[in-house]
Amino acid sequence: MGNDTVKIGLLGLGTVGGGVAEILAGNGDEIKKRLGHRLQLAGALVRDIGKQRDGSIDKDILTTEPSDILENPDIDIVVEVMGSIETAYEYIIRAFKNKKSVVTANKDLVAAHGKELFEAAEKANVDLFFEGSVAGGIPIIRPLKECLSGNRIQEVMGIINGTTNYILTKMTYEGREFQQALDEAQKRGYAEADPTADVEGHDAARKIAILASIAFNSRVAYDDVYMEGITKINSHDIQYARELGCVVKLLGIAKETDGEVEVRVHPCLISKEHPLASVKDEYNAIFVKGDAVGKTMFYGKGAGGFPTASAVVGDIISAARNLSLGTTGRIGCTCYDNKRIRGIQEVATKYYLRLNVKDRPGVLASIAGVFGNSNVSLESVIQKRMKGEMAEIVLVTHEVQESNLRDALSIIEGLSVVGDVGNVIRVEGSD
Ligand code: NAP
Ligand code: HSE
Repeated sequence: MGNDTVKIGLLGLGTVGGGVAEILAGNGDEIKKRLGHRLQLAGALVRDIGKQRDGSIDKDILTTEPSDILENPDIDIVVEVMGSIETAYEYIIRAFKNKKSVVTANKDLVAAHGKELFEAAEKANVDLFFEGSVAGGIPIIRPLKECLSGNRIQEVMGIINGTTNYILTKMTYEGREFQQALDEAQKRGYAEADPTADVEGHDAARKIAILASIAFNSRVAYDDVYMEGITKINSHDIQYARELGCVVKLLGIAKETDGEVEVRVHPCLISKEHPLASVKDEYNAIFVKGDAVGKTMFYGKGAGGFPTASAVVGDIISAARNLSLGTTGRIGCTCYDNKRIRGIQEVATKYYLRLNVKDRPGVLASIAGVFGNSNVSLESVIQKRMKGEMAEIVLVTHEVQESNLRDALSIIEGLSVVGDVGNVIRVEGSD
């Protein structure tokens, strides 16, 4: 690091990397006043040097050779914004071996290899920052690790995937069907290259795994997260939710109860009065409950080049400040506990159930009887639309353990008067 310049090497110069380059160029003078050092973009690893790029990028800094960044003694901070798991992991480990602090926005990588990455950073006594990996431009990692570190966090619940929030918003307020809304989200560039990661909940699962690990000081991996996507939600569910005073949202939920952790991603009915209900389109929000702070919510753009680059540049400035003060490695891994993760069968919530049943006397009584025998108590039963001799009914349960509900549903599915179970959606946020 020179007297007044900190040199940055980018791994990737795409949507996020391009945003980082633009912010460093456009806000460079202001950042220098705040930091006391100029952040100079000294190299950028890309796949294709000949690709058309923003005119302000100096072509001489482009390379396809990773060692030009990773083993370059002039580069102080490496910024990984290229994506992938294995290649990005290998490059970051090489950067640590060369005593470089690293900033990444790669949630797939952090959710899969967070433990190993933190151990390697600690060994090298350098920083690993990853604010951009969850909810794009919304500050949430540092608030959890620093600002809220005087609390016991009880709950983190968030809309952490912009694509699915956009789809559900269009279905709720503009009457779109699922596929039509997904096509629009893809056209707008919110969805991942393969939208399965968005609509099946994988992207949100990676993000909630990262948030839960930090909130509860205990490692939660992607594989620990129970996951359901939004592909089964149809216009009937949206309509019935509205009649129940709710909206449907895909939520990432992490709670700690009695020293154990539950972590899940699935569609939920939440009351229109809940602060998360008003988060629309591609926006994200994270609701955090701590024992001292109470309820707080963080809101903003959860994806996109500039919002994510905003978080990445904030991390670069922190890493540069630590370098200049000789305080790298100050806040490393915070997973010092090893809390048990509850299986979904152990989780207790309320449920919305949509069933197709034969429209005959005594049908409701037989269904209610099965629920009663499984200790599932019903809050409301509404008979909705008719289709031939079938009726669609909607039931809402009181809070019940998932295993009891599943036992009851397996019996109900076998009843001759039941056509099928149309959908089962958990109801959250009522406390
Ligand atoms: P992107 O637009 O596809 O850009 C990827 C960049 O990395 C490109 O410049 C590409 O080079 C380069 N690259 C990829 N693989 C490479 C390899 N093996 N060797 C050398 N260069 C390689 O991706 P992005 O949307 O910016 O996303 C980057 C990271 O940020 C991902 O981890 C993503 O999950 C995360 N993230 C993205 C967003 C978002 O809204 N986009 C939000 C939050 C987090 P070429 O330019 O030559 O193709
Ligand atoms: N595909 C993601 C989303 C953006 O829709 O939120 C990057 O995390």
